[in-house]
Amino acid sequence: MDRGFLFADGIYEVTAVLDGRLVDSASHLARFQRSAEALAIAFPWPVDAIEAMERELIARNGMEEGTVYLQITRGVAERDFLSEPDSPTFVAFTQPKRLIDNPAADTGIKVVSLPDIRWARRDIKSVMLLAQVLAKREAAARGAQEAWMIEDGFVTEGASSTAWIVTTDGTLVTRPNSRAILPGCTRAAVEALGLAEGLRIEERAFTLTEAQSAREAMVTSASTFVLPVVMIDDRPVGDGRPGPIAAKLRGLYIAAAR
Ligand code: PDD
Repeated sequence: MDRGFLFADGIYEVTAVLDGRLVDSASHLARFQRSAEALAIAFPWPVDAIEAMERELIARNGMEEGTVYLQITRGVAERDFLSEPDSPTFVAFTQPKRLIDNPAADTGIKVVSLPDIRWARRDIKSVMLLAQVLAKREAAARGAQEAWMIEDGFVTEGASSTAWIVTTDGTLVTRPNSRAILPGCTRAAVEALGLAEGLRIEERAFTLTEAQSAREAMVTSASTFVLPVVMIDDRPVGDGRPGPIAAKLRGLYIAAAR
């Protein structure tokens, strides 16, 4: 009778772990708290206590590299749309994964475009992920590793990542934060690293056509860091090989995280 199971009435976070330490932890926990507030779901503990619990979980599981998953649901009550459980449900687990030695960093990934059929509050990291599951299944069926979702002709984001392009004049472009996308924690960190490196960064929406004729394209997320996109709907991006800016930002992000 958990409302997460019955109504997808819950929120989650995925945080990377490198060398046994959390990556971008403060921004993931801040977003976790914001998502809970947006849905009026009780936050079970202060963020410091959650972070201490995550560290203990990582230590007890002896995980050096991988991800920590956190989820809070409104809690358990008889099925009724308006039920108000006494307390939220909190779940956390680790998943060991090789994040640095990801072959996709060298080969690049392929993405397919699909209509964005999600709800209008994508800034909340809700466990209501059916649209993304369907998009990922369609992408996989077409031999791609990610789906870029399209709304009103513009790319919103990847099914589980932030979408970026590098224009022919070398400007890094990603969509501004709004209710249309999840404000990516990796996006924020990569943006800061890019600026410090002297790159030009523009926050604006871009179309699929612009992406297909871009010099480079890439995605960012906690579980993939930065990955180059080399193909969009069977059209090669640039020369069809991973580009130098994506590689540079991936290197900077990993170096800053360790
Ligand atoms: N997904 N956009 C969407 C829709 C996402 O689901 C994610 C992350 C991102 C990137 O956010 P961040 O950089 O904070 O991870 C953007 C996680 C990894 C997941 O669902 O597994």
